[in-house]
Amino acid sequence: MQVSVEKRASVNSETDLFAVLTTSINSENWRLPPRWAEIDGWVDGNLKRVVDLGDFSGKAGQTVRLYSKDGTSPKRIILVGIGNSKEVGPKELRNACSIVIEEATKLESRRVAVLPPLERRLSSSACLQAMSEGFVLGGYRYDQYQTAKGKPKSVAHAAILIETANLRTARRASGAGIAIAESQNLARDLSNQPPWDLNPVTLAEAAKEMAKATGLRCKIEDLQGLKKLKMGAMLAVAQGSSNPPRLITLEHNAPKPGQKSRRPTVCLIGKGVTFDSGGLSLKPSGSMVTMKHDMSGGATVIGAMRACALLRLPIHVVGIVGAVENMPSGTAYRPDDVVTSASGKTIEIGNTDAEGRLVLADALHYARTTFEPDALIDLATLTGACVIALGKWCAGVLANNEALASRIQVAGETTSERFWQLPLWEDHRKFIKSHIADVKQVGGREAGTITAAAFLSHFVEDTPWAHLDIAGVANTDQASTGQPRGATGIGVRALIELLQNWKKL
Ligand code: BES
Ligand code: ZN
Ligand code: ZN
Repeated sequence: MQVSVEKRASVNSETDLFAVLTTSINSENWRLPPRWAEIDGWVDGNLKRVVDLGDFSGKAGQTVRLYSKDGTSPKRIILVGIGNSKEVGPKELRNACSIVIEEATKLESRRVAVLPPLERRLSSSACLQAMSEGFVLGGYRYDQYQTAKGKPKSVAHAAILIETANLRTARRASGAGIAIAESQNLARDLSNQPPWDLNPVTLAEAAKEMAKATGLRCKIEDLQGLKKLKMGAMLAVAQGSSNPPRLITLEHNAPKPGQKSRRPTVCLIGKGVTFDSGGLSLKPSGSMVTMKHDMSGGATVIGAMRACALLRLPIHVVGIVGAVENMPSGTAYRPDDVVTSASGKTIEIGNTDAEGRLVLADALHYARTTFEPDALIDLATLTGACVIALGKWCAGVLANNEALASRIQVAGETTSERFWQLPLWEDHRKFIKSHIADVKQVGGREAGTITAAAFLSHFVEDTPWAHLDIAGVANTDQASTGQPRGATGIGVRALIELLQNWKKL
């Protein structure tokens, strides 16, 4: 889909669907706004009638469809409610634009135009960005595995109509929204792809291809490379699968080889378990379904790196994804094994299903020692306990640096991706003491999300670090506005919001 920003006057009869976004209306003392007179004319006075009759009040998410009286104006008019004008912001506009695209798709409308409310506040860059995101996210479908028959035609062109805003600034904001949302859709695509086709090797190839297209530096370590790096924790997980592991490194604004960047450096680290069967600590069959999404943290990192490149963020960003498949077999690692991580610390294995933290242990160590970053941020579908604690409403954030944790939360509020902080104290580290090795891989049943983070904390030392547990929000079995069933691509928007405004911690 092509998204553009146009002057309102550009609308003509080639527009298949013309959407009017409207804040709440009190029909009693309501009068047709002059800027709607033309539209009301197209539909023979039905716009005014539908409001006068109380059939449309502008409640958020409400829609009414009207039809043009002849062939000289847009064919269909749709009113889309965005709620109380005092409460309307980027989130409501993003949702409204997703609704428009979803309606347009149902109607097989190819050309769509959206007229936002006139309020100055609602033509800000943040709002134009959010509207463009709404189009791109609302147009997302994962239908590569459905044979062509009966697929609805997708919208070809969506225009945001502006009346007073500056066209150039508006187009820049919209362009950012498109880049970010398309990157989120890339993360969704990767996460949705079945594990037969998306394994560590093909995930690395996809990252490499994206890097080539956007100008990111890309380095892939294979089995030999991982052995050289002594990544015993990650290799232990990989050992049970016939698909070999990969360590993916993407770099935006990479300094010359061997030099340290003069810009601030932030490392994003993603869990890339392309399928999590649990390994020898095999998951029950029901819990294994959806475990193709266990690389969603890695997918988000790849998506975010794409957006960093397209938006030319002024900082040095490194994306690292530990890609492995966790399978049971005669060569698989076992509970009771002790593995040596890249940091040299030994880990007593308690459960082969707690594989994500092993992958992250080595990836975090690699990130910290190779890039000496100002901050480490990891994303992982790490614990079922997080789904129990926080449900599907937000991701968990745990950190050794309060400023970083709170900035992530603020960024998430801005982009409508919620993060909720859980404590991480010295006390929690006691639960992962081992009698036989330096550290135990798993704590007990209590506070599983926190003990997992406590384990990770052993591998970041003093570097400011935040861990995002996205187990509950990486995928959904319930469709909602702008979000079909399946992968969400959670975190791409918040990470970009955070990195775009990066300040020293
Ligand atoms: N990938 C799972 C976590 C998960 C569970 C993600 C449900 C999404 C939905 C992770 O590797 C895992 O299995 N963790 C175990 C850890 C336990 C063995 C300490 C868990 O949460 O049960
Ligand atoms: Zn697992
Ligand atoms: Zn897992």
